[in-house]
Amino acid sequence: MDKIGIFDFGGQYCHLIARRIRELGVYSEIIYKPSEEYVAYILSGGPGTLTDSESPKLPENFFEKINVPILGICYGHQMIAQSFGGEVGRGKEREYGKKIATIKTDSPLFKGLTNNEQVWMSHFDEIKKIPKGFEVIAQTDICKIAAFQNLERKIFGIQFHPEVKHTINGLKILDNFLDIVGCRRTYNLEDWVNKKITELKREIGDNKVIMACSGGVDSTVAAVLLAKAGINAHFIYVDTGLMRLNETEEVKGIFSELNIPNLHVINAEERFLTTLSGISVPEKKRKIIGHLFIEIFEEEAKKLGEFDYLGQGTIYPDRIESAQPSKHATVIKSHHNVGGLPEKMNLKLCEPLADLYKDEVRKVGKMLGLPEKFTGRHPFPGPALAIRILGEIDKEKIEILKKADAIVTNIIRNHGLYEQLWQVFPALIPVKSVGVMGDERTYEWMIAIRAVESIDAMTADWAKLPYDVLEEISNQIINKVKGVNRVLFDITSKPPGTIEYE
Ligand code: XMP
Repeated sequence: MDKIGIFDFGGQYCHLIARRIRELGVYSEIIYKPSEEYVAYILSGGPGTLTDSESPKLPENFFEKINVPILGICYGHQMIAQSFGGEVGRGKEREYGKKIATIKTDSPLFKGLTNNEQVWMSHFDEIKKIPKGFEVIAQTDICKIAAFQNLERKIFGIQFHPEVKHTINGLKILDNFLDIVGCRRTYNLEDWVNKKITELKREIGDNKVIMACSGGVDSTVAAVLLAKAGINAHFIYVDTGLMRLNETEEVKGIFSELNIPNLHVINAEERFLTTLSGISVPEKKRKIIGHLFIEIFEEEAKKLGEFDYLGQGTIYPDRIESAQPSKHATVIKSHHNVGGLPEKMNLKLCEPLADLYKDEVRKVGKMLGLPEKFTGRHPFPGPALAIRILGEIDKEKIEILKKADAIVTNIIRNHGLYEQLWQVFPALIPVKSVGVMGDERTYEWMIAIRAVESIDAMTADWAKLPYDVLEEISNQIINKVKGVNRVLFDITSKPPGTIEYE
């Protein structure tokens, strides 16, 4: 299989490029050093400035050693210019947003495009002087060298972002690059599934796997894959009491419909409630939930005998992030994943989805028979509803939030808005305010509605939900959920807010 290596110069851009290349039928992965297995390289964009000594660099003498096609994007574009003796510096002004680029359509990179194309720009630095051997193939009013090429060496640079949807023909540009590379478009998820099943059979064989299932898409798809491969696997689902309405029943239903054996559902609601009682500090809540989860998982696993492997629903971005610890030095929230599991159990790891992006996991899930309503579900945090109830948790608050959550999801789905949103959910703000209902004074809690649009949760915009939808949500919550008399709409983006409340 032909593979494209994508040098990571800045997180989210880089993953988007990789996803687009995969959509075009070529396997791509995020890399930090070259290797002979790649038929071409893409140098990603990133937040750095080339003149800053701390900013990411290519390995030494990269261009002398490599003789395959290269596409540089934004930061990568400037890097090509600098490496070949051109000049990069600060532009007169920052160029940001949708722009019209005048392009030379006789460049193979822009084949099939028009002379004026809408592109997405986001830069301050720019190429001041083009290196020898290169020619300019695009410009905007602000950026005179918006794209360049060296056809002989098949090296291309573009200042704008083809991976972003606002570059209307961005995918076509990437597609043209793949044509220039001349690589085979053989990557598809049907083959991936078949190969993975064969590989699991070969590698795991008769060994025993234990795995925690959260009811989320990743761990469920991983479980289905293991089951399809006929692996002797046991799945532990801990009902913390903090799950969404009917979630446990849904998970049981899915496992039984797909004939996946050995699902062990552990009712630990009381234990979680007791341990969390009186705890209001967010990080403490998160830690308690994470530790208790592991404790219960270990206890249950012990009851089931000896295991050789620990199954996990790790996906590709999780893997890349943990390989890059320095990037995420500040802990904003200590994430709890069903994945972060017991080292002391001394098990080998089995992570069948570790090469896939979330959208690919969803497609695989669908291919394996999971209902679309399930595979298309929004992300849901490990600590579940506990971090959407601010401060102390108790049974009454959980019940309120469960009901409100079901109402919000239902209304959003009915209006056909679910798929457009990254996440939408209510949070319980345990502050009481006065209201009036049927001539009676009320003094009850508030629910905040959080709805965000995002590509990867690193940044998010609050979603401009239609007023009539908000009105319906507000009416239903106040009429149907006892204990709430006020509904607020959260208009904070990330940053400065985070998506979850704790
Ligand atoms: P924040 O609140 O950090 O959330 O902006 C970013 C994304 O991560 C999800 N999230 C979690 N996912 N375990 C998870 O598996 C966690 O502990 C956790 N905390 C936040 C959140 O729902 C959003 O999609």
